[in-house]
Amino acid sequence: MSDGATARGSATEREEARKIAEGLEHLSGFGNEHASEAAPGALPVGRNSPQRAPLGLYAEQLSGSAFTEPRAENRRSWLYRIRPSAAHPAFTRTGNGALRSAPFTQTVPDPNRLRWNPLPDPAEGTDFLAGLWTLGGNGDVTQRSGMAVHLYHADASMRRVFSDADGELLIVPERGGLLLRTEFGLLHVEPGHIALIPRGVRFRVELLDETARGYVCENYGAPFRLPDLGPIGANGLANARDFRAPVAAYEDVEGPVEVVNKFCGNLWAATYDHSPLDVVAWHGNHVPYTYDLRRFNVMGTISYDHPDPSIFTVLTSPSDTPGLAGVDFVVFAPRWLVGEDTFRPPYFHRNVMSEYMGLIEGAYDAKTAGEGGFVPGGGSLHNMMSAHGPDRETFDRASAAELRPQKIDDGLAFMFETRWPVSLTPQAARADHLQQGYDDVWQGLERHFRPLH
Ligand SMILES: [Fe+2]
Repeated sequence: MSDGATARGSATEREEARKIAEGLEHLSGFGNEHASEAAPGALPVGRNSPQRAPLGLYAEQLSGSAFTEPRAENRRSWLYRIRPSAAHPAFTRTGNGALRSAPFTQTVPDPNRLRWNPLPDPAEGTDFLAGLWTLGGNGDVTQRSGMAVHLYHADASMRRVFSDADGELLIVPERGGLLLRTEFGLLHVEPGHIALIPRGVRFRVELLDETARGYVCENYGAPFRLPDLGPIGANGLANARDFRAPVAAYEDVEGPVEVVNKFCGNLWAATYDHSPLDVVAWHGNHVPYTYDLRRFNVMGTISYDHPDPSIFTVLTSPSDTPGLAGVDFVVFAPRWLVGEDTFRPPYFHRNVMSEYMGLIEGAYDAKTAGEGGFVPGGGSLHNMMSAHGPDRETFDRASAAELRPQKIDDGLAFMFETRWPVSLTPQAARADHLQQGYDDVWQGLERHFRPLH
């Protein structure tokens, strides 16, 4: 673990990282068969595993799906690296910090509507991995099923390298830019972007600002993909070409590097004698990527009624049941509201799915009231069948509003919507930053019923 002020990284280091981040090239597209080489001739031509890989590199396949899954779901990449991943000493258990995994059985599942303030400030020298704090989740990490909701708050760049065998990591920054150094190359995200690190991919998070805060959906299930568009047609929602994969870039570092692996819910560490971010070339479709949420092509009504929020799905992780997601990632991006004779904010509802909502910036159009409020870095949980919707202030305003075209552009909220209830970790159930009195938001919704006779 990092220790003391030196571990935080200097302002000069952050400036250098920012310069690198802002100059990055990238590859475009979602789910593509990408190919990239950081040294000319590093990628073999016409085969994956020649007798001698080019430039003295080792060839290695990284599988994100079973070999035999259907072609449309098949994920794998070939990596051409200085040392094979197999060249490492034994991993030994290391502390999990505040990171927890499914099954979440330490608390009784809570039917109440819950809301949290942002995480408190981290202890000095906390890197992204140490800053991960698990709110809860569902499923079973050993069954490759379910998901976890984490938040992070860090003030130091990682010196170590991390990978997650338990699932893919959807990172949603809320404060502070990040430079992600991965086996596949470098990615840059700012608040308002997302990054996805596939299962098993090694990476390091470097901070571009003094602190970094945000959310992580750890998806144990099927990899996120773009939702089908049905009658919407061939374009819209998150467009495939706006997803960015890195170009190959490698570290040629000989010397001790701590590598941490999350495996079946626990962290395991080993000290390598080289950096595992030593992939000189790669090709395949099991790759990390980023996406700018402001590029989301928002769909909505141009006649009446508020469509279901599934219309805002950016990425979906399907389950075995058609149309039922293990988890959806949904964004509430700036958009016009033009519905006639329509209650325009999200309607009152009870949902068989469970909803964790977070706020990246600004405000959300159905939640204005309550102690602490719904603030950037905070979050709310509306578990299966819990009744929620606009607060009284929003209801009164929207019921009386003149229905002119209105631009909603003062916030960026998102939702992890999952098929199973989210059970809390004890630290989330007892957190000081868990708001008391969230139910009061829906107090004062008066009766207006006036029967005709
Ligand atoms: Fe909801």
